[in-house]
Amino acid sequence: MTFAERLAADAGLIEAHLSAALAGRADQPVTEAMRYAVRGGKRLRGFLVLEGGRMLGVPEDRAIGAAAAVEALHAYSLVHDDLPCMDDDDLRRGQPTVHRKWDEATAVLAGDALQTLAFELLTDPALGAAEVRIALVTGLAKASGIDGMVLGQALDIAAETAGRALTLDEITALQAGKTGALIGFAAEAGAVMAGADPRPLRHYAAALGLAFQIADDILDVTGDEVRTGKRLRKDAGAGKATFVSLLGLEGAKARAAELVAEAEAALAGYGKGAANLIAAARFVIARDN
Ligand code: IPE
Ligand code: IPE
Ligand code: MG
Ligand code: MG
Ligand code: MG
Repeated sequence: MTFAERLAADAGLIEAHLSAALAGRADQPVTEAMRYAVRGGKRLRGFLVLEGGRMLGVPEDRAIGAAAAVEALHAYSLVHDDLPCMDDDDLRRGQPTVHRKWDEATAVLAGDALQTLAFELLTDPALGAAEVRIALVTGLAKASGIDGMVLGQALDIAAETAGRALTLDEITALQAGKTGALIGFAAEAGAVMAGADPRPLRHYAAALGLAFQIADDILDVTGDEVRTGKRLRKDAGAGKATFVSLLGLEGAKARAAELVAEAEAALAGYGKGAANLIAAARFVIARDN
């Protein structure tokens, strides 16, 4: 199986789990908006959960709830990120954003409910013993809240009006929260379920997460709106602090390539078992969507 086939196969499993989780819920526009918001996407975070698990002997029917949970949480973050009070975007995954298709109240509520759905999914007994599920819940809460994604988003918004360019350290901290924390949770989840040492996956994810956000910033400058399915060339105009604004395009590409090498090195101890995760690291900077 090629990497693209593996990613697509895992995306299919995640899609099916999310569809089942959202079946039979209240027949309301907000429920429809939730189903709409979780559709599509690369499913990279869910892939990291499933592949990290496989590498450590956790079967996919055990890990799938955690993969779906991280994708539900991620979908919520995108719905809110696109709101007029945040990035004010009208296109996501090639479709109108949730607040454009419905309205702002529905988008806020669909995001809220996708966030709580993520934690509901982590309580599934299939994931493991109660201690394992509590560790997953704690990990996702830390990664998404004020120590993680929300902090990064707040720093991102604040940087628009800071009146000065952020330093490299400040941008790195911003990205570590905004994008890195959730990717970190995803990569470590397999180790949590397996009861294995999470540190190699943590190091891998720290490098991969940063490379991922650098690639997102590069795509904002050089990407194609049809391929990415979202509006591009917005960061500079909005005064966003990005690696491209600080290092320039070539500098950002070079930094991302260094980080991919770091991510690969972190998994050297797993030999061939890490092949899919190493392919994911390469994909993160080579992608066009
Ligand atoms: C986009 O994430 C938002 C960032 C955190 C940079 P992805 O590029 O993973 O978006 P999808 O899930 O594939 O749509
Ligand atoms: C979004 O970052 C990060 C989160 C949703 C946590 P961006 O604002 O850069 O993502 P895009 O470019 O809109 O996908
Ligand atoms: Mg944003
Ligand atoms: Mg955005
Ligand atoms: Mg972006």
